[in-house]
Amino acid sequence: MVDFSTLTPDELTELNAIDSRNFGYPPVTDRADVMAKVVEPDRFVVAKDNGKIVAGAGSYPMDMTVPGGRTLATSAVTWVSVSATHTRRGITRTMMEWLHNEARQRDEPLLALTASEGGIYERFGYGVSTRHRLVSIDRRANRLRPFAGSDHKSNGSVRLVEPFEHLDEILAIYDRYRRNQVGELSRTADMFTWCYQPKPDDLLVGALHPDGFAMWGIKPDWDDGYPRHGLDLVDFFAVTEQANHALWRTILSVDLVGEITARSAIAPDDPLPMLLEDPRGVRTTGLRDHAWIRVEDPVRCFSARTYRTSDSFTVGVVDEPILDERFDSTFKRNYFTEVVAISGDGAKLSRRRPDVAVTRAALGPLLLGAGSATTLAAGRRLRATPTHFERLDAFFGVNPLPHCRTYF
Ligand SMILES: CC(C)(COP(=O)(O)OP(=O)(O)OC[C@H]1O[C@@H](n2cnc3c(N)ncnc32)[C@H](O)[C@@H]1OP(=O)(O)O)[C@@H](O)C(=O)NCCC(=O)NCCS
Repeated sequence: MVDFSTLTPDELTELNAIDSRNFGYPPVTDRADVMAKVVEPDRFVVAKDNGKIVAGAGSYPMDMTVPGGRTLATSAVTWVSVSATHTRRGITRTMMEWLHNEARQRDEPLLALTASEGGIYERFGYGVSTRHRLVSIDRRANRLRPFAGSDHKSNGSVRLVEPFEHLDEILAIYDRYRRNQVGELSRTADMFTWCYQPKPDDLLVGALHPDGFAMWGIKPDWDDGYPRHGLDLVDFFAVTEQANHALWRTILSVDLVGEITARSAIAPDDPLPMLLEDPRGVRTTGLRDHAWIRVEDPVRCFSARTYRTSDSFTVGVVDEPILDERFDSTFKRNYFTEVVAISGDGAKLSRRRPDVAVTRAALGPLLLGAGSATTLAAGRRLRATPTHFERLDAFFGVNPLPHCRTYF
């Protein structure tokens, strides 16, 4: 018999042991103090069989920026795992319901997560709302264009630092950055340390500008006298164009480096290729989903953002992953969990017949402006009269694209 309960502080080590086994990483021992700071036990649920933990899930309290610059209290879902002895019997489903209920109780209208596998979370109402562009840059073959300051003698505004000795400064710049970046999450010093602190033998270099920050690790490769170290850019944010240029100037000036790679630091529509003399120098090696979001309270969430046109729509929400043939001929009122009227004045529950039907998971990309109505309709996540598509895209769209560099 499996029972569900809230995690207690003395169960954290046991939960971590289960979680590390299920995810395939060693249990946390040397950083148990940081782990205890970021895990708030009453935000975590555990499943127990005969008194032993067999599964767990929880959330961190964060804020996500929506179009227009407001932020929404967000449950950042994490640590979802079930022991191999207890999978596929509905434990995750129960834990997700617990987390959604908890978000409502805590007045957090949005939930976000990053998925270990793509097939799990849409059924729980989560849709891909930000993406990462994985890139590879051949440092030796690339120079910044003169307008971006290719003269490295003017690098004076950037200092190389040990990142964890400058957390206050870094987080103050980050806070300015994330409030202007749709889809980005807030960070605390403890979360920053938890996510980024390197193992004792690893080197992490910080580049600090008054309006930006970059952080990278170096993988040495001397190649018998033909050095071609790898530079892995793990974090990068800039509030101003000058900071962006100065930080890139610095990164491209790290001698002995051959390839620069980045997994999360470069947005899909980042202007970096245009700053280089050879735009193809930024090779996109992958495009993958990052933040999946669930709009728990559509009225609160869609009231928080701004829109690009003065249009309005009545949106019917369906708590199923796909809109099947039923929706082709009619939008019956009983198909919808909620119907929300959305306009530039805000969002409110409506009794009207919807003119757009969307799955709960597709609300995420609409909220952040990540997905076009045309594509969502082709993928059966949205139904509307095709003549509405252009209006919907103009209304919900954002520029630049939403992006979230934060791991959790
Ligand atoms: C992924 C994991 C959490 C699923 O837990 P679980 O308790 O077996 O899931 P449930 O039994 O509650 O399944 C709920 C639904 O999800 C589906 N599902 C579960 N795991 C899935 C997977 N890996 N891929 C696709 N679908 C999956 C089930 O088929 C079920 O579908 P249905 O209710 O629509 O029929 C578990 O396998 C696990 O811990 N894996 C290793 C760690 C991990 O990847 N965690 C996720 C972190 S983001």
